[in-house]
Amino acid sequence: MSTNMRILIPREKIADGVARIGREITRDFAGQSVTLVGVLKGACLFLSDLARQIELDATFDFIAVRSYGTKKESAGEVQLIKDVTTPLEGKNVILVEDILDTGLTFSFLQKLLMARKPRTLKFAALLDKPSRRQMPVQADYIGFQIEDEFVVGYGLDYAERFRNLPDICVFSEDP
Ligand code: IMP
Ligand code: MG
Repeated sequence: MSTNMRILIPREKIADGVARIGREITRDFAGQSVTLVGVLKGACLFLSDLARQIELDATFDFIAVRSYGTKKESAGEVQLIKDVTTPLEGKNVILVEDILDTGLTFSFLQKLLMARKPRTLKFAALLDKPSRRQMPVQADYIGFQIEDEFVVGYGLDYAERFRNLPDICVFSEDP
């Protein structure tokens, strides 16, 4: 079996997309503070770059979920494995995700976080695969819409590997 990597979104283009989302958030929350909640582990690179493009008073928190399934497909069962450690009541919360795929993770987290009574809850996803959606959800801030291809790099993994690649690449295996 051989594996193929093809660059889909090079690092310079990722940086442009992240900077644009940073400007949108800075504009939308002018004069207010925001709490960025990153979904581990995939969103950690996006969150760290995005945070530096937001010119507002900002705090961070992290949440972790597990979705059972194969290496490339989530099985539809989302489980919380690490909760945030700060109260979200009354805060402008921005949930930060690497990719919006079926929407199952976001639907699960939206319900969980809304129960904490934030002032607002917005959703930032670096990547969006609209053709894969199973739940009627959309992101408030999107970096790039992509086709139904499995991608790795810039935080995204295949069986925990390739998160450290600086570019977003399409990963495929030939039998
Ligand atoms: P959803 O619940 O189907 O929207 O999936 C969200 C999660 O699935 C993401 O946070 C990723 O961890 C994972 N995922 C979905 N598509 C990809 C991909 O193309 N590459 C790597 N991980 C992916
Ligand atoms: Mg993953």
